[in-house]
Amino acid sequence: MSAWRGLIEEYRDRLPVSEKTPVVTLLEGNTPLVPARRVSDLTGCEVFLKVEGLNPTGSFKDRGMTMAISKAAEDGAKAVICASTGNTSASAAAYAVRAGMTCAVLVPRGKIAMGKLAQALVHGSKLLQVDGNFDDCLELARKLAVDYPVALVNSVNPYRLQGQKTASFEIVDALGDAPDVHCLPVGNAGNISAYWMGYKEYANDGIAAKTPRMMGFQASGAAPFVAGGPVLNPQTIATAIRIGNPASWDLAAAARDESGGAIDAVTDRQILAAYRLLAREEGVFVEPASAASVAGLLQAREQGVLAAGQRIVCTVTGNGLKDPDWAISGAPAPTTVKVDAHAAASALGLA
Ligand code: F0G
Repeated sequence: MSAWRGLIEEYRDRLPVSEKTPVVTLLEGNTPLVPARRVSDLTGCEVFLKVEGLNPTGSFKDRGMTMAISKAAEDGAKAVICASTGNTSASAAAYAVRAGMTCAVLVPRGKIAMGKLAQALVHGSKLLQVDGNFDDCLELARKLAVDYPVALVNSVNPYRLQGQKTASFEIVDALGDAPDVHCLPVGNAGNISAYWMGYKEYANDGIAAKTPRMMGFQASGAAPFVAGGPVLNPQTIATAIRIGNPASWDLAAAARDESGGAIDAVTDRQILAAYRLLAREEGVFVEPASAASVAGLLQAREQGVLAAGQRIVCTVTGNGLKDPDWAISGAPAPTTVKVDAHAAASALGLA
C-alpha cells in the first residue's frame, strides 16, 4: 500500500483544485473508523467511531484547512484570519505556518480549552481574546476580512466544506457503502453540511448505493436548531460547540431535511457521560463536544427515534488531550507511595 498523501492528493478529482494550486498539507485525513463494541451493545446497532482527533492538529478542522489555506495561497494571500472556539484556530495556525502566512485568530475570552490556546500560541498566531462569544468573534472576523487584506478561513469559506466532505468519502471507502445513520455534534453547522455534501456526491456518482440519515446534536444550552432561531447567550461545558448563531444554518437544515434526519439537543450531563463511556469502555479519548454525537445516539435509541439493527457512524471530532481538565476533575486524586513494592502493591489492591 502506498503512503497516504493528504486528502487533496487522495481526492484531487473531487476537489476544486488545479495544477496551479499550491498544496499546503500536513497529510491530514485517513483517520480510523473504529468499531465501538460497547456503544454497539448498548444500542443494538453496529456502531463505528470516525476518530477525527487523530488529524495532525487533533481535530476535523484540518480537512477544511488544507483546502482553505491552499486556495488562499493560490490567490496570493499573505495573511489569514478566523474566529474560533479553539480547534479552527489551532488548525489555521499550523497550516498558516506551512504556507508561510501570518495567522490572526479571535477567540471568546476564557471560553476555549487550554490545549487549543497552546496550539495557537506555539504556532505563532496573533491571538486576540474577545470580550464576547464565538458569534461575536465571527462577526468581527468577517468585518476585518472585508476591510483588510486577510483571507477568512472559517467554514463560511466554501473551500472548508469541500475539504471536510472527504470524511464521508473515507467512510464509504472503508464500509463499502454509506451507513444507515450518521451522528455528529453541531456547532457552527459546517461539518454536518460538509458530510452531507460528500455522501450525496458519492451516491450521485454511484459509488455509494444510499445516503445516511444525518443526525446532528447540539448542547441543550446552545441549541439554536432546536429553538428554531439564534440563541443570544449560549452556554455549555462543551466549549467547542458553544455557538448560538450557526453560520451554515441553511445548509445544515437542508442536510437534516433532505436526509430524513434530525438536529436535536443533549444536556451537558449526557455529553459528559458519553465522554466517560468512550474513554473507559472504548479506549477513545475525545474532547467533550465530540461526545455529543454518541450522547445523541444513546438518547435517540432510548427515545425510540432510531431502530435497532442499523449501521451507524458517529464522528468524534476532537482529541481529548486538548481539554484535559474534564478528565482530571472527574477522577480521584492519585495516591502517592514510597519507592516500595509492598506499598505500591497494596495501594493498587494487588496485595
Ligand atoms: N466538535 C468540535 C471539537 C469542534 O471544534 C466543533 C467546531 C464542532 C464539533 C462543531 O462543528 O461548527 O462544523 O458544526 N468548532 C469550531 C472552532 C467552531 O472554532 O473550532 P461545526
